[in-house]
Order: sequence, then structure tokens, then C-alpha cells
Amino acid sequence: MSVRAGREFLAIPGPTTVPDEVLRAMHRPAVDIYSGPLLALTDGLLRDVARVFGTAGRAYIYISNGHGAWEASLTNVLSKGDRVLVLESGRFAIGWGEAARRMGAEVEILKGGMRRAVRPAEVEAHLKADKAKGGKTIKAVLVAQVDTASGVVNDIAAIGQAIRAAGHDALLMVDAVASLGCMPFEMDAWGVDVAMSGSQKGMMTPPGLGFVVANDRAREVHKTAGLRTPYWDWTDREGDQHYQKYAGTPPEHLLFGARQALDMLFEEGLENVYHRHRLLAEAVRRAVGVWSEGQAIGFNIAEASERADSITCVLVNGHDPEALRAYANQKCGVILGHGIGDLSGKAFRIAHMGHVNAPMILGTLGVIEMALGALSIPHAKGGAQAAIDWLSDQVPA
Ligand SMILES: Cc1ncc(COP(=O)(O)O)c(C=O)c1O
Repeated sequence: MSVRAGREFLAIPGPTTVPDEVLRAMHRPAVDIYSGPLLALTDGLLRDVARVFGTAGRAYIYISNGHGAWEASLTNVLSKGDRVLVLESGRFAIGWGEAARRMGAEVEILKGGMRRAVRPAEVEAHLKADKAKGGKTIKAVLVAQVDTASGVVNDIAAIGQAIRAAGHDALLMVDAVASLGCMPFEMDAWGVDVAMSGSQKGMMTPPGLGFVVANDRAREVHKTAGLRTPYWDWTDREGDQHYQKYAGTPPEHLLFGARQALDMLFEEGLENVYHRHRLLAEAVRRAVGVWSEGQAIGFNIAEASERADSITCVLVNGHDPEALRAYANQKCGVILGHGIGDLSGKAFRIAHMGHVNAPMILGTLGVIEMALGALSIPHAKGGAQAAIDWLSDQVPA
């Protein structure tokens, strides 16, 4: 017996639900890539991508996923043998650092863990010690705003402040793949030099576009970067020809989709978008908080203030998260995220990012509570109710 007929709901942390409006915007014939409306479309997208990142710097749009945007950002500012500091708070900054290592950088990791945010004071101390050592100092600091594996949110403003307090001139490079379009990103105000993201999460567009933004400081460093390659190169992409902006044929249909998605974000208002994410994330946290009272399951991120507004990672301590995911999928048509990295087989993840609303989140929470019951995973009852109570309190008539 199942109750899964109807629309399947993808609650994995990317790709996320693509709005029907975005799908429709993509459903059209190809257009000329040398003249006509596509040229203005590109200008508008570059301007508006920078706007969402909160920067007066330059934006670059790649035909790539997040891994490509990682590589794009690294090749443009690093040279072989440069030292890079990775701030650990889950899986993804580590993955970015691994890419840097394979490209020829020397990578050191500021140990953190899977269960907590980066501590800015530790960043400051590490960079002060690095400066004091003299010689070849750290060239760039890599950190994820939200780590999708652990569910943590890092305080990027405080990390930027820590770098400045250390008097260090390392570039601050931020992965905003799981946060852009879900929560504020203030690149210029926070002292971020390079940031990157992808189209498939908070940006509500199918996978395939990588976004990178760079300030003047990063573009200056870029001039002497030794790892530059033709496809990713910022200077080439800053050329006058439209063709250069994509280093070849533009991904037209993804651009049509991204335009529509940005229009929807601006129409809702970025502050409202972020507030919606905060409310829905807290609804999820209220539910998980109730389920975990004195029970086996619980939050992966120990400190409440360090839990992200786009993704929640739930530990199932000794129970089988895959059985729960299979139940949610096969019986109810909800696809939950699985635990990754060290949390593989130990956790499941609930995405609350992008084109999500109360029925999607409350439905997902209801299904999880159903699954916990059907699989006899010990939990306190009333989690979904707590989420409803929270939302009805916060969203007035
Ligand atoms: C925080 C973060 N960074 C980078 C990536 C890599 O992106 P992609 O899978 O699009 O290559 C992901 C993917 O989930 C992510 O969550």
C-alpha cells in the first residue's frame, strides 16, 4: 500500500524544485547569439547576479555546476604552490580545497568538524601565526557559508573581520552554493573577495550554471595568477564580444530560466525570500526538536544558532536513515536527502531551500513523522504540530 500518487516532492538539497514559470521561460526556440535580445539578457543577468551576492564587483556566468565554479574561482587567483587555508565545517570547503590541491596549491586545513561552525577566533589566531612565521604566507581562505553535508551556517562577516583583525591579506573566498537566494549574502560589506554558487538550489534554475563574483582586489591578484586556463579566465570573459562572456556558445535556455528565477526573487523581494526561508527552516527545527526530546534522533549541528536556514541534517543514532528515506519516497513520494561524507548511513537531510512554501515543508514533516511511526523509530510525537503552531504564530491572518 502506498499514498504516493500525485506530484513527487524533491526535498533533497539540490537540485531543488524548479518553478513552473522557470520551466515555461525555457520552453522556447533558440535565438541568435551575436545580436538581438540575448545581449541585453546577459548584461542584465551579470548585473543581477552581482546584486544577489551584494557586490559592486564583477560577475561571471559559467556553463558548469558548483564543482566547475569552484575551479573557476581557484584558477583565476592562484598560482602553482600557493598556500590555501580551508576552514572545515563539514564536507564542502574540504572538497573545494581538494580541488585546489589537485590544481597544484598547497592546502592546509583549519580543523573544525562535522558538528559545528567555523570559529572566527581560531581563524584569526591561525592567520596571525601564519604572518608571524614570515615567508610564503597563506594566499586565500576557503569557506562555505552553508555546508550542505553538516547543515551548518558560518558567520562570513565575522570570518572576514577575523582576517582583517589578523592584519592578513589572504583573499576570502566563499562557497555560497547552498545559501545564495536563501539568506543574505553581503559580499562587499563582509569583505569577501571571491564568491561562487550554482543555479540549482536557492536560485531555482536547473543545474548547469555556475556563478562567480570577484572584487577589485581579487581581479588585481588575477593578473598574475599562474593557474589561469582559457575556459575559466576572467580577462577573456571581460572582453567586448558577447561570445567571450561564455567562452563560446551561451547556455541560452538556462539563461532564460535564470532570468525568470531572478525576476521571481526580486518580485517577492529578497528580504521576504530570506524571511520565508527563516520561517520554514524554523518550522523544520521545531519539528526535529520535538521528535528528538529524549529520543534517538537529533540535530547534527549542536548549537541552535549555527543551524542553516536552507538545510537541516538529522542524526538517527543507531537507526537506519535509508529505511526512513525509502519509506518517504516509496510510500509517500517525498525524496529526502541522505547523509554524506562521515554522516553516510547515520543521518538524513531535509532541504528547505529555493521554491518552497508551507505546504511543501509541512507535508514533508508530516511524511517524516509518519515514517518514524511506521518504522518504530523512537521519537516524541507532535513534531509536525509544533511546526504548524510555529507558522500559524508567525504568519498572521
Ligand atoms: C555547499 C556546496 N558546495 C559545492 C557543491 C558542489 O556543487 P555541484 O554538485 O553543483 O558541483 C555543493 C553541492 O551540493 C554544495 O552543497
